[in-house]
Amino acid sequence: MSVDAEIVRDPIDDLPAMVVGRWVTEEKHQIIKRYIDASWAARQKFTSQRTYIDLFAGTGRVKVKHTQRFFDGGPLAAWRIAQQKRGTFSDFFVADFNREYLSACDARLTKLGAPVRSIVGRADETIDWIMPQLLRSGLHLALLDPFNAGHLHFAIIEKLSAMPAMDIVVHLSTGDIQRNIAAGLDAEQSPLDNFAPGWRRVVKKQSSKVAMRNAFIRHWRDMVEQVGMRVCETMYPVRNSKGSTMYWLCLISRHSLAEKLWREACQFDTRNLF
Ligand SMILES: C[S@@+](CC[C@H](N)C(=O)[O-])C[C@H]1O[C@@H](n2cnc3c(N)ncnc32)[C@H](O)[C@@H]1O
Repeated sequence: MSVDAEIVRDPIDDLPAMVVGRWVTEEKHQIIKRYIDASWAARQKFTSQRTYIDLFAGTGRVKVKHTQRFFDGGPLAAWRIAQQKRGTFSDFFVADFNREYLSACDARLTKLGAPVRSIVGRADETIDWIMPQLLRSGLHLALLDPFNAGHLHFAIIEKLSAMPAMDIVVHLSTGDIQRNIAAGLDAEQSPLDNFAPGWRRVVKKQSSKVAMRNAFIRHWRDMVEQVGMRVCETMYPVRNSKGSTMYWLCLISRHSLAEKLWREACQFDTRNLF
């Protein structure tokens, strides 16, 4: 499934901005900021390199649907929150398949003074440009925020796992996964084959879609453990204003401190504010 985003111009800089549901700014970006805020303060010992890696970076600014309100997208929000801390990001890698989006994102980050390096391309290819630029002694945060699960090839997580201090925040498209499982079991190929190779061997036709989805996610978690990392038990359900879960945000790491900070970042509920 490919999703074409709606794009408008942000009057502040006349560059493209992606139109998004309010949950993107009120939930997703808040969790990312809260995690960066907590983990950067707690992990000051990493001074050799502190990177932000975003392989699905988008335009850098977003407009909330049905409003005239513009906000920072994921990478700009991450840069601004880290800048308020001691030891901000030393290297800021952004990539996107869409040249126009990436160019806007790069221009906006450059204007804010971020040490940005960018590359146009598919995430499963741009990862090979980024990996040689990472130091094993550094602290790395990768955001994997695709429109759908099929774009998030497992090989990306496997490659990132080569760094000892790597935290990966993943947008887990549970709706997309659930929709594709039944069709994928009967087809020769499925977008889910990229996301969790070998899933057909373990996910059998079961009583309910939710049971199949849970078996699929268990398989993906097992694969993450096989590359020496862990999916934190705490996953944040990003919900729209009607309370429907749009997707989950989860953390992949290998340190108990990272998981503790993630759990704290997820103790956050904007729904009471509506
Ligand atoms: C959900 S948006 C990213 C939003 C951004 N992370 C934020 O928080 O503001 C997903 C982005 O992935 C890009 N994209 C789609 N398929 C891709 C692929 N295979 N590799 C890299 N980028 C892709 C789209 O152009 C889009 O900008």
